Formats: sequence, C-alpha cells, structure tokens
Amino acid sequence: MTNLIDIKGVTHAYATKAGPLPVLDNLNISVPEGEFCAVVGPSGCGKSTLTRLVAGLMKPDEGEVWLHGERVTSPRSTVGMAFQNPVLLEWRTILDNVILPLEIVPNKMNRAQKEERARELLTLVGLDGFEDKRPSELSGGMRQRASLCRAIVHKPEVLIMDEPFGALDAFTREDLWQTMHALRAEEPFTGVLITHDLRESIYLADEVIVLSGRPATTQYRMDTRLGGRTDIDMLYTPEVGKMLYDLRDQIEIAQGRKVVETAE
Ligand SMILES: Nc1ncnc2c1ncn2[C@@H]1O[C@H](COP(=O)(O)OP(=O)(O)O)[C@@H](O)[C@H]1O
Ligand SMILES: [Mg+2]
Repeated sequence: MTNLIDIKGVTHAYATKAGPLPVLDNLNISVPEGEFCAVVGPSGCGKSTLTRLVAGLMKPDEGEVWLHGERVTSPRSTVGMAFQNPVLLEWRTILDNVILPLEIVPNKMNRAQKEERARELLTLVGLDGFEDKRPSELSGGMRQRASLCRAIVHKPEVLIMDEPFGALDAFTREDLWQTMHALRAEEPFTGVLITHDLRESIYLADEVIVLSGRPATTQYRMDTRLGGRTDIDMLYTPEVGKMLYDLRDQIEIAQGRKVVETAE
C-alpha cells in the first residue's frame, strides 16, 4: 500500500528571544491511504507544530513532508482540519458553515449541489433538522459534529484533527467517536489525530505513535487495529486494557517520570 502521508526526518526549532527552541527532532511518520494515525505525547512536545507542517502552514528546518507523492511546500486545500474549539461563524447557519470550504476551494458544484453535499453529511452525523440554526443554538457536541462535517465537506485527502474532542464530556465524546467511525465507513479518508485520550487513540486509530518529550521524536508505535472492531464495547476487553497499560507506561517515559529499563 502507498503511504498517503510521509513525514521524513523532520526537524524543527522555533526562533525565540532566548534562542532556538528545538521542537521536533528527526521525526518519521508514515500513514497508508485510508488509515488513521493517532499521535500522543506530553503537553508542549510539538504535536500542534506537527499538524501545521503537514497542512503546509509551516516549513520544517530539515526533512520533508509528502502528501500523496507530492512534497508539501505551501498550504493545501486537500487537507481538512478540525480543532478543539470548533470555530464556526455565528452569522452563518449550520448549513452555510458546512458549505464554506466549497465556496473557497475551487470546484464545479452549483449552489444546489453544495447544499445537497452538506445536508448529506449533516444527516450522517445526526444533525438533520438543525441546518438552519445558528452555532450558538447548538450544544458543544453538536457544534463539533458540524465542524467535522465542514472539515470533510470538500473531500480532502487528509483530515488532521488536533484534540477535536478534548472539550467535550465523556459521554458526548464517546458518541462522537462512533460518529467518526460512521463517517469513515461512508467515505474513507486518511487521518492524523492528535489526542491526550489514550482510549480515544486506540478506538479511532489503526496505529498509535507516542512522541518523546521536546524535542519530539517517535518513541513508540503500537498497532491498534483489533481486527477491525469498531463497537465501543471493544474498549472494555482485556486486549485493550493491556494496550492502555503499555501506552500509559510510554507516556510516563516520555514525560521523564519513568526511567527506561535496559537489559544489561
Ligand atoms: N510560534 C511559536 N513560536 C515559539 N514557540 C512556539 C511557537 N508555537 C509553539 N511554540 C512552542 O513549541 C513547543 C511545542 O508547541 P506545540 O507544538 O503547540 O506543542 P503541543 O501541541 O504538543 O502541546 C511549546 O513549547 C510551545 O511553547
Ligand atoms: Mg497542541
């Protein structure tokens, strides 16, 4: 299988008043087409920086980012993004918020087709009947559903999510996880999910990558496919319990709270 996303030897430092702040160090991540990769790591290690590099919003000091066989050197319309705070425009209805990328990214759709596409997605995430509401009339979970629709309405090749469910309560979050699986089943896309929630990373991703503390490099990888199960009950199996335990251990190592045991 071809890799849709290839991050090769990426090293980056921010220029600060106190001198260069190394954030990423020789980072390598590959995501095959149609798969989801979750990235977890200590706060401030460089996860959001990584998303900006993949979206072409920034260039790395060293190394390369490739999307679908093309080197990324400028912002891409083939990348959809979703963030913790869904930045919906209050003066637009939910439907018009979802349509927005179709008004920006060049395409041949007329207004009716754009509306149809947006309605189709809103129905898929359970927001039919809310098309004409304003963002402030919706709950946080509903706004996040709408923002997910907006992120994929133009069928981007890649969806990058930076802690998209972080501000939601636990039950709403689980609902949204299931919605993510429903969306992927309907229209497969390749994704990078930044998260603090280890259960979320296992449930949604095919592979979980643990980044080390800053400057971040790939510390650990785990295959979390679990035979394609997508029911929420799978989170309560002993198999997932063991995965959670291992990931937790790796996070503690990344945070410098635990010393790596080496064989003598
Ligand atoms: N534009 C910037 N200029 C200088 N330092 C930055 C900038 N953006 C982020 N940083 C610093 O880089 C480090 C990594 O930031 P970030 O990628 O946001 O981490 P994370 O998303 O993993 O919490 C942090 O120490 C942060 O303060
Ligand atoms: Mg961040």
